[in-house]
Amino acid sequence: MFQFNTIQKGLKGRNIISTEDLSIPEIKEVLSLAKDMKRNRFSSKFTDVLKHKTFLMFFYNPSVRTRQSFEAAMTELGGHAQFLEPKSMRLKTEKSAGETIEDSAKVMSRYAAGIGIRILEDKITKYGEGDWLIREYAKFADVPVFSMAHDKFHPFQGLADIMGLQEYFDEVKGKKLLMTWAHGALARSWCSIQENLLISSRLGMSINLAHPEGYELDKEVIEKTKKYCEENGQEFKITNEVEKGYNNVNVVYSRNWMSPNAYKNGILQKELEIKKSMKYTKWICDSRKMKYTDNAVFIHPMPVDRGNEVSDEVASGKNSLIYEIAENRLHVQKALLALTMC
Ligand code: CP
Repeated sequence: MFQFNTIQKGLKGRNIISTEDLSIPEIKEVLSLAKDMKRNRFSSKFTDVLKHKTFLMFFYNPSVRTRQSFEAAMTELGGHAQFLEPKSMRLKTEKSAGETIEDSAKVMSRYAAGIGIRILEDKITKYGEGDWLIREYAKFADVPVFSMAHDKFHPFQGLADIMGLQEYFDEVKGKKLLMTWAHGALARSWCSIQENLLISSRLGMSINLAHPEGYELDKEVIEKTKKYCEENGQEFKITNEVEKGYNNVNVVYSRNWMSPNAYKNGILQKELEIKKSMKYTKWICDSRKMKYTDNAVFIHPMPVDRGNEVSDEVASGKNSLIYEIAENRLHVQKALLALTMC
């Protein structure tokens, strides 16, 4: 059986709602264990770590990577993941009577060693409501609660992004990241973008953030990103120009996200957001713009909106890390499931 070190042992029982829940030394230990788990994927030192334990995966929204990688992670650690949807439960909502979060969280804690929740933009009435719901579960649950992506944050995606960059560059400190908005037909959440800004700036990357006017991100996330860049002696620049941010960067992350006006009277204006976004056809990451970079790698949390967010040539090019990072979801999740639930 694997022996955890002192920092790793401190993670037992902890909730992971954002990477902000982890200190820098803890992030380093999680990534170190994830890399060990990647190198020694089916080693007997890991295959019984969560033997007989269950992780409940509660999905308000669909998923490919998150569901499959959490389920595979529990299998590879000797445990089991159970898939749940709100329609298969009897939860209290504004419109119907049913079980409260307190009762659900307390009962789920009697069965499982951990609970994961995904709640994204179309299942809430305003930005911040998904974050509130996950924190309510965490307040009442007696086992760790994980965000499997919610309206504000996507911690396991942020960790997988950084793991991919560390594998490529060895050290991410001092590397320059362009986080650029892109037009798209899917009206994306803010969670992956905001998580990446926080973890990248905390780990010492300099950041160019590019988006058209009207696509500003959460002010608190922007203030924190600025502070972390300053503390690490790195630059944080925001531009509304489509090409300027590409100059000399080492990493390009191109992704659509919705405007802050996406909700009207408690309803997500998805079609309107898509229509508005699709007018900005210049906002795509393509080979011509990548030529301005320092031979940058391309990253994206997937699913990729090819032809809108990024050209096929870049997404499938030799500098694309998208599949490596998607695989890393499995390894960072295995590491944190083991550390928090063991
Ligand atoms: N990146 C990510 O969370 O993918 P899924 O939405 O497919 O889970």
